[in-house]
Amino acid sequence: MLFKYTKGKPLPQETQGILAGKTLALLFTKKSLVPVSVRKPVGCLGGHPMFLGANDIQLGDPKKGGESWRDTSQVVGSMVDAVFARLGDHSEIEELAKYSSAPVVNALTAKFHPMQALADIMTIYESFMPKEEIMALLEDPDAQLPILHGVKVAWVGDANNIINSLLVCLPRLGISVGVATPAGYEIDEDIQEYVEAEAAKAQAEGRVYGTVVYTQDPQVAVNKAHIIVTDTWVSMGQEAEKQARLDAFKGFQEGGAMEDWKFMHCLPRKLEEVDDEVFYNEARSLVFGEAENRKWTAMAVFEEVGKFN
Ligand code: NVA
Repeated sequence: MLFKYTKGKPLPQETQGILAGKTLALLFTKKSLVPVSVRKPVGCLGGHPMFLGANDIQLGDPKKGGESWRDTSQVVGSMVDAVFARLGDHSEIEELAKYSSAPVVNALTAKFHPMQALADIMTIYESFMPKEEIMALLEDPDAQLPILHGVKVAWVGDANNIINSLLVCLPRLGISVGVATPAGYEIDEDIQEYVEAEAAKAQAEGRVYGTVVYTQDPQVAVNKAHIIVTDTWVSMGQEAEKQARLDAFKGFQEGGAMEDWKFMHCLPRKLEEVDDEVFYNEARSLVFGEAENRKWTAMAVFEEVGKFN
């Protein structure tokens, strides 16, 4: 499914027009280039994207004249076929999913960014699998992704929505993860507990599960890592903490231990996290392929949305 849509492959016959006559609301309370990676796939599948930015609707505290999440969710959900939402606190999307009768896709919250994790997984596979093997996978719609045992991904940066989502997915694919975050910015306990529980489950079932190591030392995280991933140190909504964060994250700029390590970043990039030498290094940086994969993976997700109604 993940490689069903990819560069150079014609749109599968059976999914053409799967969203015909369907409207997908893009409910965004945060800024982003994502509408670009969403409008195009929705259009390709024949659907109609309806952008709803923070200024287009009256979301807000009802005591101050705004419309509550509950009411907004119920109304929007009753008028469209699906909602693709980029919101603030994770509780907002939970509220939206609870009261919307249309399916809701998480396009980012402060806690998770599953759409980015899908694009990242696709990018990691492209980096490790020969093109012929990927093409063979494309031939077989039921093919499972092979386990990438022995591959190590390092995260150097903030304990944010991107690494939370990667920690949910990567170890299941056999990928080991080294996570370096500064003191005071550790991965949330519930995520650590989830990883521990999944590891125990995999062990009981005899499945491979990548090891996860948490550290405050970037050198420990990047040791033997094939791919180093980072993101902004100041996520959307954390602007007031900017200076404290920039101080805390000093020394967390990229730098690999392996000779031919690759680099990934979900964008937008800020200059302090990674220098141009790495970011624009064509042999090392996977960032622009990773960005394009947002489009392909979105198509796979929207195909599923199209089957929903
Ligand atoms: N962690 C970043 C991701 C942006 C795609 C943010 O939430 O702002």
